Amino acid sequence: MGFKHFNFFALLAGLSLLLVVHAQDQSGFISVACGLPANSSFTEKRTGINYISDATFIDSGIDNSISPDIRRYYQQQVWNLRSFPQGNRNCYTINVRRGTKYLIRANFLHGNYDGKGNLPQFDLYVGPNKWDTIEVVNSSDSVVKELIHVPSLNYIHVCLVNTGLGTPFLSAIEFRPLENATYVTQSGSLALFSRLDTGSKSNQGYRYGNDVYDRYWQPYIQFDWTDLNTSLTIDDSRNVYQPPSVVMSTAATPGNDSAPLEISWESDSATTEYYVYMHFAEVVELNANQSRSFNCTLNGNHWFGPIAPNYNKTITMFSPSALKVEAKYDFSIFKTEKSTLPPIINAIEIYTVKYLLQSDTYQGDVDAIAKIKSTYGIKRIWQGDPCAPKGYAWEGLNCSYDGDTPPRITSLNLSSSGLVGGISADISSLVMLQYLDLSNNNLIGPVPNFLSQLIHLSDLNLERNQLSGSIPAELIARSDNGLLSLSVGDNPNLCGSGSCKKKENNIVVPIVASLGGLLILSLIVAAIFLGLRRRKQQDKTKGIESNIQNVSLESTQRQFTYSELLKITNNFEMILGKGGFGIVYHGKIDDTQVAVKMLSPSSVQGFQQFQSEVKLLMMVHHRNLTTLVGYCYEGTNMGLIYEYMANGDLEAHLSGEKTNILNWEERIQIATDAAQGLEYLHHGCRPPICHRDVKPTNILLNEKFHAKLADFGLSKIFPTDGGTHVSTVVAGTPGYLDPEYYISNWLTEKSDVYSFGVVLLEIITSRPAIEKSNERTHISQWVSLMLAKGDIKSIVDARLRGNFNINSAWKAVEIAMTCVSTTSAKRPTMSQVVVELKESLTIELAYMKEGHEHETTDSIEMIDMNLTTDLTPLAR
Ligand SMILES: *[C@@H]1O[C@H](CO)[C@@H](O)[C@H](O)[C@H]1NC(C)=O
Ligand SMILES: *[C@@H]1O[C@H](CO)[C@@H](O)[C@H](O)[C@H]1NC(C)=O
Ligand SMILES: *[C@@H]1O[C@H](CO)[C@@H](O)[C@H](O)[C@H]1NC(C)=O
Ligand SMILES: *[C@@H]1O[C@H](CO)[C@@H](O)[C@H](O)[C@H]1NC(C)=O
Ligand SMILES: *[C@@H]1O[C@H](CO)[C@@H](O)[C@H](O)[C@H]1NC(C)=O
Ligand SMILES: *[C@@H]1O[C@H](CO)[C@@H](O)[C@H](O)[C@H]1NC(C)=O
Ligand SMILES: *[C@@H]1O[C@H](CO)[C@@H](O)[C@H](O)[C@H]1NC(C)=O
Ligand SMILES: *[C@@H]1O[C@H](CO)[C@@H](O)[C@H](O)[C@H]1NC(C)=O
Ligand SMILES: *[C@@H]1O[C@H](CO)[C@@H](O)[C@H](O)[C@H]1NC(C)=O
Ligand SMILES: *[C@@H]1O[C@H](CO)[C@@H](O)[C@H](O)[C@H]1NC(C)=O
Repeated sequence: MGFKHFNFFALLAGLSLLLVVHAQDQSGFISVACGLPANSSFTEKRTGINYISDATFIDSGIDNSISPDIRRYYQQQVWNLRSFPQGNRNCYTINVRRGTKYLIRANFLHGNYDGKGNLPQFDLYVGPNKWDTIEVVNSSDSVVKELIHVPSLNYIHVCLVNTGLGTPFLSAIEFRPLENATYVTQSGSLALFSRLDTGSKSNQGYRYGNDVYDRYWQPYIQFDWTDLNTSLTIDDSRNVYQPPSVVMSTAATPGNDSAPLEISWESDSATTEYYVYMHFAEVVELNANQSRSFNCTLNGNHWFGPIAPNYNKTITMFSPSALKVEAKYDFSIFKTEKSTLPPIINAIEIYTVKYLLQSDTYQGDVDAIAKIKSTYGIKRIWQGDPCAPKGYAWEGLNCSYDGDTPPRITSLNLSSSGLVGGISADISSLVMLQYLDLSNNNLIGPVPNFLSQLIHLSDLNLERNQLSGSIPAELIARSDNGLLSLSVGDNPNLCGSGSCKKKENNIVVPIVASLGGLLILSLIVAAIFLGLRRRKQQDKTKGIESNIQNVSLESTQRQFTYSELLKITNNFEMILGKGGFGIVYHGKIDDTQVAVKMLSPSSVQGFQQFQSEVKLLMMVHHRNLTTLVGYCYEGTNMGLIYEYMANGDLEAHLSGEKTNILNWEERIQIATDAAQGLEYLHHGCRPPICHRDVKPTNILLNEKFHAKLADFGLSKIFPTDGGTHVSTVVAGTPGYLDPEYYISNWLTEKSDVYSFGVVLLEIITSRPAIEKSNERTHISQWVSLMLAKGDIKSIVDARLRGNFNINSAWKAVEIAMTCVSTTSAKRPTMSQVVVELKESLTIELAYMKEGHEHETTDSIEMIDMNLTTDLTPLAR
């Protein structure tokens, strides 16, 4: 004999008041009666549960009441309901304790509230995941859905989705905290299939008052079963499931003493997984010559047993993992050979597994957009999860959906939304924002600087507002660089001319709040004017005024397609060199020469990270860093486009590959340039960037022999493989690699300092980092050896033939040797290195002014130096 789960709440009809309401703890209960007038609440007479209005949990829908003739069959919490004639998706937001296991119950009683008897069908969602379909087939029957679920956030969205089959509604929603150790699944949440109080005649819907967890128990008996009961209390608090005593004190037993108890059902679908919990307790005081023990099989296979339930003690049988998926589940409980009495069962619970796999939107984004919504009193139906599920993202938002990671908000369009007031600082918390449109509102106040902290922002539209003050210099700079498309037109008080200066002081000074700030301020102002002048020159047909009003500076397309790369490089015609991360080709965009580095696809991260890293690198600007012009990412074709450096890399010049020999001044200048580039990466960037692969091939020289660092930050795009394997591509190059790395496995800024020291030694000596001879001596060992001999002449590249100031050289050697200290703590910072190198350069320049020329002479000064190999750190 089979059974189906059915809508047992109707059985609460005509509950007698005889049910004693036990004084139980309601703490942690959330009991919401939907459609109840705002601020009202009541205590349900039979259960003693306090219900509150749903008005604070939702801001849409219409209050309704069920037909009065149906009321008397039901408890008060379903007398009202909230219907949702508008919007595809309406959501309740209910604050919960994250990590707590909850029994969540949603009640639907149509009750002919509309007087039309239109019975709807709609979908019920928990957060971004579908929980169930609600099908109302009889307006006087209630539909109840229960879910045992552990929320991962401190709120839950319960959403009703209109599927075009009638108006969704909700009568009541309840949350009941459960013990952690109950209803444990291997994965997924549990939806109630059936919960039966077997062998009961008096049960008219036991729940809270009897059950500490407020589970509903439905009476159940099959025609060939006999009911047993005891008047004793079976209250076993040692059993974590705590089935209520009133449920456990009745049991079913087969009518035929030798027959088994059979319970069976057919599966909902070919994939549904079930968990089953059977509760047993002896209800008969057994004589000495009586015994009751039984086994249980599932589809003919032994499932458990033998067990002999104790009097006044509850034993719960369940499997820790879901039952094997079958078309039909046949449980058979039968007595063992020794048993004198037939089997019994007191209660059974059956659940199906719900996999709620879609993750909620990243909580920081949810919090930020919720604040923005409340700040501006946005009237749209913005409910539930902003991004998920994908088809129901909030109007005006776009999100990124990246596999298992929570969705993030990437664009926000609040154009023409009646926004009043200043630009909300909460916008800056939407850190993944790429597109922001606040146009055509009544926004006042300044364009806040925090907008420039949104590093992914590529589109910003502030047109047609009442904004005042001036545009943050950083935004203008990014717009100038083509990183940002900025539109600010039709803001009558937003200024861009000299008359703005005073106004701007008023706005900015209180923020800067220091005297030093004034200097910064004037720099910003100057930057703006410079920017303006530059634009004016570019576009002489437009006046400054119109220019600043419409700074819709079209970004040069930063992302290139592969076919564009083919065109740019003329089918990769000319190889410039081979860098750490791939081959570099010559190219031309319009008439500007560029270098295109095609990346080996092996270990590159996903597109999103690649793109965000590259965009970040495109924002790093320093005269000693090669400028990243653009990038390409198409399948395995990944390319980076750099400014072209006419004189190639430093390596070629040191190795003698090139005919001209760099003189001492040029060498120290190149070293200083590279050091400044590194200093900027370490101390001028937030967050600091470690180069991690400083070497002569990564120092490029332009037509004036000014040096720029290349390939910075790329090691972030190409993550190291766990640090166990030192790849020359990824974690540095032998000879340049920080020896401390072997101990710590961690490359830091001081690792860059070490590598720079090696490069500086090469610049000084023109010798390779590691001698190609059999000994494979490291350059630092060789220099140490020479220093010990006091032989500065033989340290510096002999091809210079002594044409340098010996003090300048000594200083350079000293800096290099401190940089290559084995312990990172002894190494200077790049800022200190820059200071010392500049001093070395000054000495050399003064020496040349005295009439020394960079030409070949034989006059080599010998200085008697008290040399030590263990150099102390440089003076600060
Ligand atoms: C509910 O109570 C709040 C605060 O007590 C009050 O501001 C609000 O007007 C009340 N709403 C209704 C509908 O009574
Ligand atoms: C709805 O249910 C009630 C009682 O549960 C029953 O009397 C009535 O006939 C049912 N209506 C329909 C249309 O099935
Ligand atoms: C419940 O279990 C989770 C994980 O199993 C644990 O993190 C949490 O602390 C537990 N809570 C309680 C109240 O035991
Ligand atoms: C208990 O069993 C007795 C005898 O079968 C029956 O009269 C009584 O109604 C039962 N009580 C309950 C609560 O089922
Ligand atoms: C009782 O059950 C046994 C075993 O299932 C069966 O052989 C017997 O005929 C049944 N007795 C009655 C009276 O149904
Ligand atoms: C079991 O013992 C009781 C008395 O304790 C007795 O009345 C009954 O007949 C015995 N039953 C059997 C099957 O031996
Ligand atoms: C059963 O246990 C409850 C609580 O543990 C106790 O109050 C009651 O007296 C016990 N009954 C018997 C018959 O042992
Ligand atoms: C009950 O199960 C036990 C353990 O698997 C087994 O030894 C015993 O034979 C079973 N009894 C019956 C009647 O199947
Ligand atoms: C969101 O994406 C859709 C489809 O790509 C696009 O049509 C729409 O303009 C985007 N909206 C925003 C606010 O970016
Ligand atoms: C932004 O919203 C406005 C007004 O609703 C609309 O006209 C515009 O097309 C939207 N922009 C995008 C990119 O979707």
